[in-house]
Amino acid sequence: MNVLILGSGGREHAFTLKLSESKKINQLFVAPGNAGTAKIANNVHINPTDFNAVKQTVLDNDIKMVVVGPEAPLVAGVHDFFLADDALKNIPVIGPKKDGATLEGSKDFSKQFMQKHGVPTAKYQSFTKENLAEGFAFLETLEPPYVLKADGLAAGKGVLILNSLEEAKAELKEMVSNQKFGEASSTVVIEEFLIGIELSVFVLTDGKNYKILPSAKDYKRIGEGDTGLNTGGMGAISPVPFADDAFLNKVEELVVKPTIEGLRKDGIDYRGFIFIGLMNDNGNPSVVEYNVRMGDPETEVVLPRIESDLFDLFEGVANQTLDEKSFSVTSKTATTVMLVAGGYPEAYEKGKEISGFDTIDESIVFHAGTTIKDDKVVTNGGRVMAISSFGETIEEALEKSYKSIDKIHFDKMNYRKDIGFDLL
Ligand code: AMP
Ligand code: GLY
Repeated sequence: MNVLILGSGGREHAFTLKLSESKKINQLFVAPGNAGTAKIANNVHINPTDFNAVKQTVLDNDIKMVVVGPEAPLVAGVHDFFLADDALKNIPVIGPKKDGATLEGSKDFSKQFMQKHGVPTAKYQSFTKENLAEGFAFLETLEPPYVLKADGLAAGKGVLILNSLEEAKAELKEMVSNQKFGEASSTVVIEEFLIGIELSVFVLTDGKNYKILPSAKDYKRIGEGDTGLNTGGMGAISPVPFADDAFLNKVEELVVKPTIEGLRKDGIDYRGFIFIGLMNDNGNPSVVEYNVRMGDPETEVVLPRIESDLFDLFEGVANQTLDEKSFSVTSKTATTVMLVAGGYPEAYEKGKEISGFDTIDESIVFHAGTTIKDDKVVTNGGRVMAISSFGETIEEALEKSYKSIDKIHFDKMNYRKDIGFDLL
């Protein structure tokens, strides 16, 4: 069978590598992919939100399953597009339809969903420019710091955490009245600040059954010690030491089950990944956010730990037989460290030649923002490569990732030297 993966990051390279191990897959296609996926699959140079181009790719290459990496095609309705097309409707898409994708596409919707189905989350209210005064009044009832979230997709930049009430009011006004984050912030969710340590739990569901995949912790800030601007993620670790069985059991009972049950009750036929961002407050989980895809770079530590055939699970999702499937996970720790372009997450340059990555044997090199130009691998994005390693301990895995990184070079390469610092 031929399979198409949509996306171009480290997450998609990790999907491609993992699926390339499956005996049931004949050819893998990635759209648009990167220099890493080009080595092990066929890159197709189309935009994954151009659904007609996706359709043509599927038909031209006899694709029998589509795995969606990023949220944008899901929120834009790629799965619905397939179901509405006679030539595509029997080709399973791993990823929710538009209704399910709203869990990520609208923070207001996801908070309402959590409240309705009793999923623990921070107290909140939503505001628009029509009820700005009520927004100010709600802020006055909260303790600092104040958490303001643009309702819509804002490329990971739509969350502000502010220490002063005055600042929070000014930013709220900027968001709803002056569209600080464009249309995405015409509605703003204001919520209570949650205390605790964050982690990500990944669930794969066929709409009836679910599997909880390995959990991970990512490092979102650009600077060491979790300082500076937010990024897409600078590194990740799996498993998360503080997420012990007792905590994960609570997550399953209090969060995963009511979420899957809630989707079913609301008539949302969800087939794909749910990425649950959680705060662990003294052993009690509280949901920070849902995403409707895998995390990046979390995927670069979660998938390498899965020892069995991932495609087998995807078939379970497609046929709603996930309950009949099983999978195995290594007890080893996986770490990944992201190499980024100097300047990222602000302005950065592209087109820098990357060297030294092809002789690495102690780590897996996942390409993210890379491309091939004149037969050379060059940078093509802010996050360039994720260097993943295994170890019996976090320390051992990290040592391998950093040793491998010492061999890799490109102009203005940057990375965090303290991934896992808070867990050691
Ligand atoms: P989100 O896009 O909702 O994941 O928010 C981005 C980041 O802001 C999260 O990963 C948290 O680190 C932080 N954050 C979001 N909501 C809260 C909250 N209610 N309390 C504390 N931190 C939060
Ligand atoms: N690493 C966080 C995310 O994928 O959203």
